[in-house]
Amino acid sequence: MSAVLSVDNLSKSFGGLMAVMGVGFEVAEGEIFGLIGPNGAGKTTLFNMLTGLTRPSSGTVRFMGQDITGMDPEVIARLGMARTFQNIRLFGGMSVLDNVRIPRHALGKSNEGAGLWAGVFGTKAAREHERDALERARSLVDLVGLSDRAEAPAASLPYGARRRLEIARALALSPKLLLLDEPAAGMNPSEKQDLARFIRDIRDRFELTVLFIEHNVPMVMGLCKNVAVLNFGELLAVGTPEEVQANPAVVEAYLGESPDTAVIKPEVSHA
Ligand SMILES: Nc1ncnc2c1ncn2[C@@H]1O[C@H](COP(=O)(O)OP(=O)(O)O)[C@@H](O)[C@H]1O
Ligand SMILES: [Mg+2]
Repeated sequence: MSAVLSVDNLSKSFGGLMAVMGVGFEVAEGEIFGLIGPNGAGKTTLFNMLTGLTRPSSGTVRFMGQDITGMDPEVIARLGMARTFQNIRLFGGMSVLDNVRIPRHALGKSNEGAGLWAGVFGTKAAREHERDALERARSLVDLVGLSDRAEAPAASLPYGARRRLEIARALALSPKLLLLDEPAAGMNPSEKQDLARFIRDIRDRFELTVLFIEHNVPMVMGLCKNVAVLNFGELLAVGTPEEVQANPAVVEAYLGESPDTAVIKPEVSHA
């Protein structure tokens, strides 16, 4: 198993505040990897550094063997890394379907293989690629159970459906690695179970590697092969759920008395 993602000694300081300090871990191909830690631990900052939204102060990010540290988000996305956001980011006024169609246009993938001239002159090949993109978007909308709302504005969807739509949009980029920032936030236990099943399903179907942030400890433990625990910007532990749950530093700082039932308070959202 080769590492899809390899993070080495990664740090970010905002002014004097060390949001992430010397964090390192590896995510193997095909695994579902969990990132947990209390509010303010640096989880989103870490995601932002992996996806190019935040430039690391120091350290290295390797994606499929390539050093991507400090690259632009669009370049990293094109290499095959897609994400969702803690605060859902959709084009609320656009239809469900158009939200899923956007990324491939944005990345210029709708004309893949058709060449520049095809794009410019609208050749048959370009039209075919356009049609393929539409079909693909429809099948992704179907996959997340929103076919009957395909023409509705994204903003009109209930919360859980918007979360699923955001995942569909990330999948439209045909990623190798999918990063989910608290996809289960605000969901009830049965919705969380559905989401866990869905994450496993898309991992299998699209041969993805998944890295996700979650506060609900039982969900992480049930779904992930490996887990990293962040606390005040530092990596407390990384390992299998069993190893991490048995780690005294983790128990003390994060899990409290009863790891089986520990649920960390959802964090207040900030942009
Ligand atoms: N753009 C920023 N400017 C200044 N401080 C920030 C910024 N983004 C995050 N922080 C701070 O970095 C710390 C980690 O935040 P964050 O990565 O959002 O944590 P988490 O996602 O684990 O809750 C917090 O103290 C937060 O206030
Ligand atoms: Mg966060």
